[in-house]
Amino acid sequence: MIDETGIPPGPTNPGIPPGPTNPGIPSGGPAVPTNPVLEELPSYFTQPLTDALDREALIDLSIGDPHEPTPPAVRRALIDAVTPSSSYPSAVGQPELREAIADWVGRRHGVEVDPDRHVLASAGSKEAIFHLPLAVIDATGSRPGVLWGQPGYPVYDRGTRFAGGVSDPVTLRPDQGWRLDLADLPAERLARTSIAWLNYPHNPTGATTDRAHLRRQLEVAREHRLLLASDECYQEIWFDEPAPSILEVCDGDLTGVIAIVSLSKRSGMTGYRSGAMIGDPTLIARLRRLRTTTGTASPSFVQAAAAAAWCDQDHVDERRAIFAAKRQVLLSFLTQQGFEVSGSEATFYLWVRAPGGDDAAYAEALMRAGLLVTPGRSFGVGGEGWLRLALVPTVEECHLAVQRWAAAIAEGRLPT
Ligand SMILES: Cc1ncc(COP(=O)(O)O)c(C=O)c1O
Repeated sequence: MIDETGIPPGPTNPGIPPGPTNPGIPSGGPAVPTNPVLEELPSYFTQPLTDALDREALIDLSIGDPHEPTPPAVRRALIDAVTPSSSYPSAVGQPELREAIADWVGRRHGVEVDPDRHVLASAGSKEAIFHLPLAVIDATGSRPGVLWGQPGYPVYDRGTRFAGGVSDPVTLRPDQGWRLDLADLPAERLARTSIAWLNYPHNPTGATTDRAHLRRQLEVAREHRLLLASDECYQEIWFDEPAPSILEVCDGDLTGVIAIVSLSKRSGMTGYRSGAMIGDPTLIARLRRLRTTTGTASPSFVQAAAAAAWCDQDHVDERRAIFAAKRQVLLSFLTQQGFEVSGSEATFYLWVRAPGGDDAAYAEALMRAGLLVTPGRSFGVGGEGWLRLALVPTVEECHLAVQRWAAAIAEGRLPT
């Protein structure tokens, strides 16, 4: 049963709190009803010192939002698509956009998908990840669980909880390449699960995967009849070899699988909000029904710009070369200094063991030295003791960053 909060009742969503819309229950709580899930959310990690320091003077390696320009042809396509009068955008994605995405899947992954049956546009991958459980989880059923790897992107957890599901994180380990392996989990745990999230290339560790691992995940997911959801928003940011997609190991049968892709990282379009879901035709049909209600469609001019972006691969190669140059500067410094770098094969993140073992203390000391990085603990259990460096500053700023870091080490200003 769905109440007017839109969220099915469940263990974390016991229904509407007492108040004007629910006169049967005595009032007396807060003046405005609150969803308890919201109250329970941990706040994002904040760095208290930044207020005290001159933020402008810091080199920011903390936030994963690079500033490289959006390709001119994409900006042009957006401007050209602004019409004199305005109408509601397509909730499922304009046909030209879905066709452009299907063509890209064919070129990039060698997989044929039908733009109508297999592809649905989204306003970036974050909202797609957040909303997906609403179409999948039966909170009153026997499988409210959602598996995801920790350290990891927190939205798998949040989407689950707001949908009344039970978040079930799996701690990832460096000795397993930070890979979530469903084959390692007991059958009872898988039997309670309705969605398993994969995220390779992985935020925050930059770890990648291979087809054999993906194939194994698909086998386990199918055996236990759970949805395998693959967040592939970093898939075009690889360095040694192209990152594979879950779509590549399905042998043409996308049952039980959904890949979520995005233009944010691929095309420098974080502010446009455009991505897509590709996969199981039955699930896509359900999501089409759900998403005509959520009001999350990107504006039509963004959808036109998105179609232009998916059609072009040159700008993606150029962006990858820029990240590779930044990565080289930081990686050679870290290697020279004897830091332990783990994962870091793809994405625009480097994942580095914090000397001394305390990631928060090291990040704070680095901040005093003029560098902002993210302590691994802000990505959850398993991230303690690690630092995430985002390849966001320019190549020149990366050079400056390593100079500052080296000077702070030489002067004994950092934990060892
Ligand atoms: C793992 C992961 N998934 C999804 C997203 C959301 O990206 P977007 O909504 O811009 O596509 C991010 C953003 O940083 C991310 O790190």
